[in-house]
Amino acid sequence: MGGVGFAVSGSRGDDPTQYPGKLTWYVVMTLMAAAMGGLIFGYDIGISGGVTSMAPFLEKFFPSVYHNQMDDTSTNQYCKFDSQILTLFTSSLYLAALVASFFASTMTKKFGRRKSMMFGGLIFLVGAIINAAAVHISMLIIGRVLLGIGVGFANQSVPLYLSEMSPYDYRGTFNVCFQLMITIGILVANLFNYFFAKIEGGWGWRLSLGLAGVPAIIIIISSFFLSDTPNSLVDRGREEEAKTLLKRIRGVENIDAEFNDILAAKNDARLVQNQWQNIFKSRCYRPQLVMSILIPFFQQLTGINVIMFYAPVLFKTIGFGSDASLMSAVITGVINVLATCVSIGFADRWGRRTLFLEGGVQMLIFQIAVAALIGAKFGVTGDVTELPKWFAIVVVICICFYVAGFAWSWGPLGWLYPSEIFSLEIRSAGQSVNVAVNMLFTFLVAQVFLALLCTMKFGLFIFFAFFVVLMTLFCYFFMPETKNIPIEEMTQIWREHWYWKRFMDQPVNGANEMTRIEQV
Ligand code: BGC
Repeated sequence: MGGVGFAVSGSRGDDPTQYPGKLTWYVVMTLMAAAMGGLIFGYDIGISGGVTSMAPFLEKFFPSVYHNQMDDTSTNQYCKFDSQILTLFTSSLYLAALVASFFASTMTKKFGRRKSMMFGGLIFLVGAIINAAAVHISMLIIGRVLLGIGVGFANQSVPLYLSEMSPYDYRGTFNVCFQLMITIGILVANLFNYFFAKIEGGWGWRLSLGLAGVPAIIIIISSFFLSDTPNSLVDRGREEEAKTLLKRIRGVENIDAEFNDILAAKNDARLVQNQWQNIFKSRCYRPQLVMSILIPFFQQLTGINVIMFYAPVLFKTIGFGSDASLMSAVITGVINVLATCVSIGFADRWGRRTLFLEGGVQMLIFQIAVAALIGAKFGVTGDVTELPKWFAIVVVICICFYVAGFAWSWGPLGWLYPSEIFSLEIRSAGQSVNVAVNMLFTFLVAQVFLALLCTMKFGLFIFFAFFVVLMTLFCYFFMPETKNIPIEEMTQIWREHWYWKRFMDQPVNGANEMTRIEQV
């Protein structure tokens, strides 16, 4: 039974026996190793906020920022001292990752997913070493740019690797492990900062920055042993190798159905000369392009990184002491990890839409609760010095529910969904757009958050809530379910969708499903 019948009938996704196979140990170990790619991204998200609040680090590299902070005596809690230079240093990584993701697209397509992962790990390692040894601000910046390049390559290639390698009915489970590693990276980094800040002599920041090398080494070693994905092998003309690999990872001899689908996708790919031109110009890729832009945009406009980057500042503002606010940041970090496991367990059972919609509603409720609580106590002036303990605890609980909502929906699915919806011929370019938009908005949110808080006050949480409403409506009306649909059969979801089907009737450069039928 070839793949073509399914492409046109649209029934494939409902029957998991269509691709025979088992969940082999080989594929499980491979996927676990690849998911480690999330660690470097997570470690970086978690580490920079803490390091830039360590006094010895600031004194050494940003003396004027340090003195201004010391002299800041304002009691307006909304308008904390804000240094654009310092945030620019932190977020330079995201700009580097943005640019790198476009180069990664070519490398991932031409040389395979594995090489991009390995390259990302290597560059990241060099960046971590330079940062740990920094004696001058230029070393810090060069180091951060290299880290950003590493993240750009890893985030571009790892989600694709996971989605292509997984058996399709476990794709959600394994892809979400990438997000699990991100959350573990964030948590470990927060804990390290907490302990290293206490090191006498003030050189703890070197440890915080240097230990980023550990996840990088893990990725380099893992990718050394990984095989590439069958889809990428076929795409690069190594069909026999792909067949042997498919037999090994699926644990059965009969892999014809899956192999033929990949082959059909590759034949379409051959008709597409330039993936960039196609993704932007051809109408039939419009739904995929829209998703690759809007999903990362919405993921960042949930405001999650306000919590990830500024939790200690936020918790200090609402009345915790220094230690307690770092501890509360660790608590939200633990919730982030645990709640991601819900998605690992249920993305393939309940489907992506259920999680997206539930997570959206949950985030909305608790964002409004936080806005109401802060608005009630801080008013519009923000001039508060004493706040009751119960208040701080209730805010932390609400933030935990908000983080949990993100962690089982838009967090993991913001990486899973884009990586599984692109057709082979534009998959690499599509994923680069996804990474670039994600990094751009991570950068913007980090850069303007403190300034926005100062002007919008508690209304800032309503601002993010507004986007959560938009994205939940968008999901309800425009995001088709992808659970249990083989990756090379994904075009069927657009063809059957009430809105997107209007884009699917035109052939692209002659490469549409009808071409597939004729070819097989
Ligand atoms: C997002 C990051 C975020 C992290 C939090 C990821 O999916 O891309 O921006 O910091 O989740 O866990």
